[in-house]
Amino acid sequence: MPADVERVGTGVLLGSGLSSVGDPFDVERRLRFDEIPGVGDAGVAGHRGEVRTVRIGGHPCCFVFGRRHYYEGDENPIGRLIEHLYESGVRQLVVTSAAGSLDGSARPGELVLVDAILDLQFRNRRTAAPLATSSPPANTSRAAAANLRLADHLRARIQRAARRAGLRLNRGSLASFPGPAYETPSEIRALKSIGTSLVSMSGAPETVAANALGMQVAMIAVVTNWAAGISTVPLTHDDVLTCGQSVAADLRRLITQFVELD
Ligand code: HPA
Repeated sequence: MPADVERVGTGVLLGSGLSSVGDPFDVERRLRFDEIPGVGDAGVAGHRGEVRTVRIGGHPCCFVFGRRHYYEGDENPIGRLIEHLYESGVRQLVVTSAAGSLDGSARPGELVLVDAILDLQFRNRRTAAPLATSSPPANTSRAAAANLRLADHLRARIQRAARRAGLRLNRGSLASFPGPAYETPSEIRALKSIGTSLVSMSGAPETVAANALGMQVAMIAVVTNWAAGISTVPLTHDDVLTCGQSVAADLRRLITQFVELD
């Protein structure tokens, strides 16, 4: 990063249906994913594929509108995107994601502060870390396993931000599935039996890649649906997007308070 470019500090990844969270802020810089080498265009509906630098309460921040998923190709689009944020000066990352709820502790339309991520995308770790680290590929899976960490101080700040914004914030653990299909009811039952409260197709690869670069990570899930088998209605991506959009204003207030508390 050139010395005269102001450090960005905070990066926020916006998940499915959550792009409007970043819309109202004045844009200082804008880059499409396909302008960032190795990232490529965002292919999933609800993922706009753009990085914007904005200012919140005087603090420069990056919003990433959408993300590439592993199932969109076998390159390392997430690792490259995180690396780009790092090169822009981002050192703390808030990952947001649409998620299905496995129990009554969080209902569709509610926000959840994620306490722990169960990485069910671990087969991707070979591609998650090498680009993001200089460690030799032979060491990667062990290094990545030790590197799935959510930062306590960021979680505490998100809780303070929620109090200031007057928002109810649930807590829970999240299983990060590879997608692109939703889970089966028996997978959901198995996860529920070990105490998992949410499922998503994001969270783990971003956190692994960011941790590998030494970035601090927090994750906020937006509950968009009951998980497969809990809901009697079949899940659709459109319903996920519609519910995500209805919660975007609450998430924006939470992110705004979070950045202002920095
Ligand atoms: N499962 C996985 N990913 C999701 C879900 C879900 O139920 N809802 C939103 N993203």
